[in-house]
Amino acid sequence: MVVLGAGPAGLVLGNILVDQGIDCVVLERSTRTHVQTRARAGFLAAHTVRILERHGLAEGLRRRGQPHSTCEFRTEDDRFRLDYSGLGRGERHTVYPQQDLVTDLVTRFLARGGQIRFGTEAVAVCDADGERPTVAVREADGRPGRWRGRYVAGCDGQHGAARRSLPPGTVRHHRDHGVTWLGLLAEAPPSLDAVGYAVHGRGFAGHMARTSDVTRYYLQCEPGTPADAWSEERIWDELDLRMGADKYGPLHRGPLIQRSVVDLRSDVLEPLRHGALFLAGDAAGLISPSAAKGANLAVLEAELLADALTDALRAGDPAGLDAYSARCLTHIWRAQEFSHWMIGLLHGPSGADGESLFHNSLRRSRLASLRTSRAQQDWFADHYVGV
Ligand code: APR
Repeated sequence: MVVLGAGPAGLVLGNILVDQGIDCVVLERSTRTHVQTRARAGFLAAHTVRILERHGLAEGLRRRGQPHSTCEFRTEDDRFRLDYSGLGRGERHTVYPQQDLVTDLVTRFLARGGQIRFGTEAVAVCDADGERPTVAVREADGRPGRWRGRYVAGCDGQHGAARRSLPPGTVRHHRDHGVTWLGLLAEAPPSLDAVGYAVHGRGFAGHMARTSDVTRYYLQCEPGTPADAWSEERIWDELDLRMGADKYGPLHRGPLIQRSVVDLRSDVLEPLRHGALFLAGDAAGLISPSAAKGANLAVLEAELLADALTDALRAGDPAGLDAYSARCLTHIWRAQEFSHWMIGLLHGPSGADGESLFHNSLRRSRLASLRTSRAQQDWFADHYVGV
């Protein structure tokens, strides 16, 4: 079994397969230090925690993860909180930085006899229609190489070799949401005991705790804005303005240790299988960070694929592999639909024309429903935490 990519999808898949005694090699183009220190997501859904616990992969998050169950929506006029653990199915998130999860997964995979080839970049997947697909690679020393397996799992993200190796018939559903976020990591304690969503006329601002002394902020900006365009002071002043610091208190400031510009885009490939090649995680579909679904979908797809591969390789039963794509796509589209709804709730046009005014009035009405309707709150809670 050859797995491309040592992210959440590839590592959860690899851990489950080695536990089933299936020989598995993970090809990862980056270094071990890079994948174990790269700050990405950090909001694990209850279902994700259950999957990790089921496979003995939750020790770290059980010890250091923090439960989280409250959203705070702020507009220019007022704010309201939703404790979603008391709504819908009553589930909550676990805040656990992805780099810590990836470190746990790498350590356990290697301890269980898994093999990770760091610094090895997959170039193409060949003969996926055959019984022995081949992965052409560039080894760490720059030499070309080849890896073969009965199956190949493409967990190498949206720009990886697996996507490049798909046949022309693969359908790519995609949408550019026309929204750009300046993603920030601040060396500062969280300013709220909730995920903060500021819906402001000047644009969206978001607040998400990562650890007790690091906080993730998002600031909607004009498409094309360079990550270093704004001074730290201007960023903090704008965050304070949009988060209503004058009414609710200033944000805890600190050095901005990471900046990135994120154009909110989504895509979904269909089908997620091409012969012996299967896609999972961002390689299967990209989802906007508005609802923190990416890593949770990656883990869910990894378990679905691992179970199907185990049935095929251990019991000779291909049914799970035949059903894999359709089963994943059901979950993917449900997550995409909610993420799309969230983007429409948090962002709107800035114009004063009738269309823009209408769109923004709809948003205010959606927020009012979310604030007052228990049925809407239950729906929100189930989709926000669910996968
Ligand atoms: N060859 C080998 N490895 C590759 C290649 C390649 N050609 N291209 C990419 N990779 C590696 C990357 O270095 C990365 O470590 O594949 C891995 C993909 O990991 P992620 O991008 O984290 O993707 P995935 O596991 O699908 O997790 C997706 O997790 O990062 C969060 O929320 C984020 O939605 C995202 C989710």
